[in-house]
Amino acid sequence: MSIPLISALDYIPHPLVVVTAGDPENPKRRGGMAAAWVSRVSWSPPLVMVSIAPERFTLELIREFKEFAINVVSEDLERAVMDVFGTLSGRDTDKFARAGVGAVSAKKIKAPVIREAAVVIECKVLKEVEAGDHIMVVGEVIEAYRSGVEGPLLLWHRGSVTKLK
Ligand SMILES: Cc1cc2nc3c(=O)[nH]c(=O)nc-3n(C[C@H](O)[C@H](O)[C@H](O)COP(=O)(O)O)c2cc1C
Repeated sequence: MSIPLISALDYIPHPLVVVTAGDPENPKRRGGMAAAWVSRVSWSPPLVMVSIAPERFTLELIREFKEFAINVVSEDLERAVMDVFGTLSGRDTDKFARAGVGAVSAKKIKAPVIREAAVVIECKVLKEVEAGDHIMVVGEVIEAYRSGVEGPLLLWHRGSVTKLK
């Protein structure tokens, strides 16, 4: 049975993370967005990619600072991810304050990271690849750590949030 091409892509399960960038000290120049189109791409060096629509404020910050962090979050942050980081624009909202989460400094890059994230992966931008209507930002992983927050992680599958136990 044939299915529409775009609907078929919904069957590929994705992580659901928050990609953050900017200056943690400056509420007007820090931000983050919910992202599902995120993947590892190389073992050595360890590379990841996030595919970002050109109009995202987070992409503007990534281009300015040349760094970003992937915040892997647990179910405690589901509402923050969906209602704030995945919906509002960082151009006119400090999403960290709005979501009631901490914006703390990353360890090796100048990006805010979410204090309540379960795992943080810090990246330096290696390259951008224009791909259709999105920009694939490829980053080299240079630091990673766990916060101690436990709980099922968020996944995005067939248009809704699901949990990874
Ligand atoms: C579940 C979910 C997944 C998303 N995944 C992506 C993604 O992979 N790439 C992207 O460009 N936008 C994605 N978005 C949309 C952005 O998170 C959203 O447009 C956000 O408000 C952008 O904020 P910004 O303009 O402050 O960067 C996703 C949104 C949701 C709710």
